[in-house]
Amino acid sequence: MSTLKAVRGTRDLLPPETELWNRIESTARTIFARYNFGEIRTPIFEDTQLFARGVGEDTDIVSKEMYTWEDRPRAQSDKAQSLTLRPENTAGVVRAYIEHRLGESGLLQKLYYVGPQFRRERPQKGRYRQFYQIGAEVIGPPSAGSESPLHDAELLEMLASFLDELGITGWKLLINSVGSATDRPRYIAVLREALRAVAPQMCGDCQRRAETNPLRVLDCKVPEDQPIIETLPRIADYLDEASQTHFAAVRAALDACGVTYEISHRLVRGLDYYTRTTFEFQVNNEEGGLGAQNALLGGGRYDGLSEMIGGPKAPGIGFAIGADRLVLTLEAQSGEISPTLADAYIAPLGESLNLAALVLAREFRRAGLRIEVGDGSFRLKKSFETGDKLARNIVLLGEDELQSGMLTIKNFASGVQTKIVREQAASALAAPHE
Ligand code: HAM
Repeated sequence: MSTLKAVRGTRDLLPPETELWNRIESTARTIFARYNFGEIRTPIFEDTQLFARGVGEDTDIVSKEMYTWEDRPRAQSDKAQSLTLRPENTAGVVRAYIEHRLGESGLLQKLYYVGPQFRRERPQKGRYRQFYQIGAEVIGPPSAGSESPLHDAELLEMLASFLDELGITGWKLLINSVGSATDRPRYIAVLREALRAVAPQMCGDCQRRAETNPLRVLDCKVPEDQPIIETLPRIADYLDEASQTHFAAVRAALDACGVTYEISHRLVRGLDYYTRTTFEFQVNNEEGGLGAQNALLGGGRYDGLSEMIGGPKAPGIGFAIGADRLVLTLEAQSGEISPTLADAYIAPLGESLNLAALVLAREFRRAGLRIEVGDGSFRLKKSFETGDKLARNIVLLGEDELQSGMLTIKNFASGVQTKIVREQAASALAAPHE
């Protein structure tokens, strides 16, 4: 029988790497709490229409990357429904915002999420079909100040602090403004017109995009197309005054906070809901270990998304961090992760001491220690070898130790062996030895 493997583009995350995942997630939760965000958990699948309307029919995500299926009715009275594994979480958060009438509080909603997303992309390093995002959204009625450029800057400043706190070095923030819901179509029309003349000299993808989704041409990475793209009209020249003022205010607030950035007029991003500010944090390839996938995270404003999916006016801004890429970057920058050692390995000296070892382990664990319990059938040499791989100390538990209440502890790093009264053993084991 052939062996079954994880599906292409999916993978298992194992210790010790999962320790790094946990560190990243808990750092994110800590930082987000400092900015007063609360957690939201939305379902992993949604009505397909949510993404078709929210993310956009013409985007790569909706047109070719979604995992969509007809959910069979269970009863004759049920209707079949087209469902989709979420390719991103912003549409789901905005759906929840509308469904639970969160806007009626009159306050801004500051929500973060951590979880898997699904896109049928061509798998490569840093690009998976099941991947993980850590994201956040700030959304609310205009009366709550949701359109304010200060929120854009505050989010970017939070992200810079998060990456710094994790110890990521060499990151670069790119920002742009894609204008309001009226600026964008005006620019797209001009771009489409300009592309008519040059598209035939461009790659096949660009020729197709020139018709279906001209903004995507700006994402093209084909070297021969780059000089042509540089000659295309820039969105900055088509922003109305309000969008220009908004973008200037975002930059001024970033300057005030000391967050450095570059303006990238090609940063239009692959989802249709963006308006005004868009951004991406990148790491360069040598430092980041990401290969071609150098975008650690991306986001932007989506002032019209709520209305696109049938809700009230609720401008918002958010981001999603690619957690898989953050892990790859941290691994590349800080070297191999060593597994966490237990505080002690308890070695019962004979099978008759197995139960006493369990009792001692319970005592230590209740005192907060990380404990591995050995097996009384092991020879002493094997106990030492196993203990050395798993723990910082070995605690020998023989008949003598049990009767006298004096435990024998050896620290592997220093090689020092001591005898210590059972009542004081937990605090001695907790103290890290050099
Ligand atoms: P996105 O740019 O499509 O934006 O994805 C955000 C991040 O998710 C990317 O920068 C990347 O790090 C990671 N990512 C995307 N696709 C993959 C993949 N196949 N494998 C590994 N990592 C991937 C969004 O998803 C928006 N919802 C962000 C947002 C929130 N905008 C406003 N609010």
